[in-house]
Amino acid sequence: MIYDALLELLQSRRSVRHFKERPVSRADLDRLLDAARWAPSNHNRQPWKFIVMDDPARIRELADQVRQGMEQKVASLSGVVAVHATGLVQYGTFFAAAPVVIVAMHKLPIAAAAPLWAATRNPELVSGEALSVAMAIQNLLLAAHALDLGACVMTAPLLAENLTSILHVPPGFALTALIAVGHPDGIPQTPRRKIPGHIAEFNPHSNP
Ligand SMILES: Cc1cc2nc3c(=O)[nH]c(=O)nc-3n(C[C@H](O)[C@H](O)[C@H](O)COP(=O)(O)O)c2cc1C
Repeated sequence: MIYDALLELLQSRRSVRHFKERPVSRADLDRLLDAARWAPSNHNRQPWKFIVMDDPARIRELADQVRQGMEQKVASLSGVVAVHATGLVQYGTFFAAAPVVIVAMHKLPIAAAAPLWAATRNPELVSGEALSVAMAIQNLLLAAHALDLGACVMTAPLLAENLTSILHVPPGFALTALIAVGHPDGIPQTPRRKIPGHIAEFNPHSNP
């Protein structure tokens, strides 16, 4: 039965990008962060740090700075990728009117352990910090949904190369994503999902 309730929660969560002006209570923000910290993490390193911004003026200012950074990036590109990047500017700055923005950061891998994964194809993924924070973010998004809040995780703002310095990311950390949170002003349509048969194979390489 708990599976049905969980699936219902998973299926009904949407990325919400339009919010009422109403602020989010401190108690609810504390609940979101509490949910985040129960995510699994590499070696239980809990490599996350969150900065919570709930000052509308500061959030608007941040969105303006991200817009400038993204537009600079677009100006440095040409061809098809420039057209695609132009479309991403709105995707990375809609949070200007969100009552809360949470900045999610992950710890950098432990330098002394670098030889362990240096030769792997994607060392940062193998090391696990960014993946751990992604899991914490999903906990946070689901908790927001369970509290009737709306939220949207965003990586497009990270295209603004000025973001790390604007947000004073501490040494030893990197930006993972921003998360807009607020009381939803409408719930978006459910985007299509691939069917299980198209995303999974059972025992494809086993001998007959
Ligand atoms: C890693 C990641 C990065 C995302 N970045 C953005 C973003 O920058 N801007 C945005 O509006 N949505 C962003 N999204 C939200 C996706 O567009 C959204 O999850 C997808 O369209 C499916 O919609 P749903 O979340 O409502 O099911 C991101 C989602 C993920 C998982």
